[in-house]
Amino acid sequence: MTSVQIRQKFLEFFRSKGHTVIPSASLVPENDPTVLFTTAGMHPLVPYLLGEKHPGGKRLTDVQKCLRTGDIDDVGDNRHLTFFEMLGNWSLGDYFKKEAIEWSFEFLTGKEWLALDPERLYVSVFEGDDDAPRDEESIELWKKAFATVGMKAEVGERIFPYSKKSNWWGPAGATGPCGPDTEMYYDTGLAHDKAFGEACHPSCDCGRFIEIWNDVFMQYEKTSDRKFVPLKQKNVDTGMGLERITTVKNGLDNVFDTDLFAPIIQEIERMTHRSYRTNTTNERSMRIVADHVRTAMFLIADGILPSNKDQGYVLRRLIRRSVRHGLSLGLHGAFLGKLYDTVAASFDGAYPELITHKERIVNELTKEEEKFGKTLEKGLREFEKLFGKSGKVTGDDAFVLHSTYGFPLELTEEIARDKGQKVDRAAFEAEFRKHQDLSRTGAEQKFAGGLADHSAECTRLHTATHLLHQALRTVLGGHVAQKGSNITRERLRFDFSHPEKMTKEQIKEVEDIVNGIIERDLPVHYEILDLSEAKKRGAIGLFEDTYAQLGGKIKVYFVGDQALGDYVSAEVCGGPHVERTGELKGLVIQKEEAVAAGVRRIKAAVAANEPLK
Ligand code: ALA
Repeated sequence: MTSVQIRQKFLEFFRSKGHTVIPSASLVPENDPTVLFTTAGMHPLVPYLLGEKHPGGKRLTDVQKCLRTGDIDDVGDNRHLTFFEMLGNWSLGDYFKKEAIEWSFEFLTGKEWLALDPERLYVSVFEGDDDAPRDEESIELWKKAFATVGMKAEVGERIFPYSKKSNWWGPAGATGPCGPDTEMYYDTGLAHDKAFGEACHPSCDCGRFIEIWNDVFMQYEKTSDRKFVPLKQKNVDTGMGLERITTVKNGLDNVFDTDLFAPIIQEIERMTHRSYRTNTTNERSMRIVADHVRTAMFLIADGILPSNKDQGYVLRRLIRRSVRHGLSLGLHGAFLGKLYDTVAASFDGAYPELITHKERIVNELTKEEEKFGKTLEKGLREFEKLFGKSGKVTGDDAFVLHSTYGFPLELTEEIARDKGQKVDRAAFEAEFRKHQDLSRTGAEQKFAGGLADHSAECTRLHTATHLLHQALRTVLGGHVAQKGSNITRERLRFDFSHPEKMTKEQIKEVEDIVNGIIERDLPVHYEILDLSEAKKRGAIGLFEDTYAQLGGKIKVYFVGDQALGDYVSAEVCGGPHVERTGELKGLVIQKEEAVAAGVRRIKAAVAANEPLK
């Protein structure tokens, strides 16, 4: 079964169970300062898991683009990837464990669906601890599910209880919705590798069992005093990796043999005149290039460009790492852009953004490769020199490789690791700080991931963004459109189209308008409207915003008196927002600057979050 067919089957299955199909959101979360990337299908849905109403109703399903940088060093084995597609189904306070488990089993084993051999399926459940009990309900449901195909599923044989580390989903340190999960594993039949322990079991890392699907039961809210309080709205959040399910469905034991990767690997073989299977070094490098080129293409399609900051740094790192692996395969010139057609074809039109932005993708890949290609070989020689001298790479050496030859620290670390050496990261960081380029560290903090920050501070700034957007249109004109937005607890950042620098007077006027609205303490509410109705009622904003839009319906936030129908702002948005504008207490524009040709950026803060300077 092809990956294209599996995508379709999944959505069709859940549509038949009353779910609304929603489009994939961007890889780059809007209005969420806590993470750099969408790391799971649930991520764009956080407001709805917390109780906001979704225009698609209470049962949703989708295929979401995801990116996890945490797995980058594992890419090259049989199952780890940076970019992957997550098939998901959600219950927003609707069905719970019974339906979720029954449907998972039906989709995996049902004759007209994936028809996997149930004998090869294993599941895990939460074993219980002081915070929450063992998930007996899921155990019973799995027993019943396996019984429908005449199998006896025993705990310890087919059903494996594990601790929070593997069977719990939710915020690590912070607060928010969370709960136990149950994971489904497929036995590939590979021999167990004793390096991973005496006995093999589903969550053993040896590669024999592949985790294919995770059903999360969000039934608790973790509070700031570390209590787990039952949630009013119980949700189901599930995630199945398309690459992994395609692997096992086709009787393969590694994701790179699926139709999502095999054509890319073949193209790399053709370009390098080397064989993938001849040795494990070729195999690993080709897998890394195949993985990274997909990720890089999607990042560029979602508007990211290589840089030294945040998402741009990750993109740069992926491209530069590919160039280095390309070089070890004998590729000297730029080659990633040449893989574009093969990669795009493997998605068979599932992501129109890859097609629309073809030119930008190929150009940016090639530009970055050429930039790095020029210094890579010199840098590698320098590395050998430094390494040869001392037998180790110091933090200072790593910094020279970074600043002079453009080696991301992680790349230096990887090369050092291949030679059995470690880089003094702390010394590198110290040197880095001296040079006042802290952005990469900032990016790393954000890799930690987690649930979106829907704190009161961010919510206020989110509402302030709407007021600002409208005020800018009033003062500068209707050409002003949102180009980007990013909110931390301290400030908002809003990018918009406008050809020139704003004057002091214009800035003051915008500020006055927003403060006038705050003073009037107007109510805020949302309505779910047909697209045409939303446009008729003057809604502005990103109509293509997948957080808010769905099958012809769209969520629009209004600021102003509902009874009078007198609104100062109407904007397409997923929320959340404050109830009344007075909660903001005041707005100050701290900075107005250019970010790109024809795009300006405003940074602003609200008085309710901290005293304004
Ligand atoms: N959110 C769950 C996961 O990503 C489904 O595994």
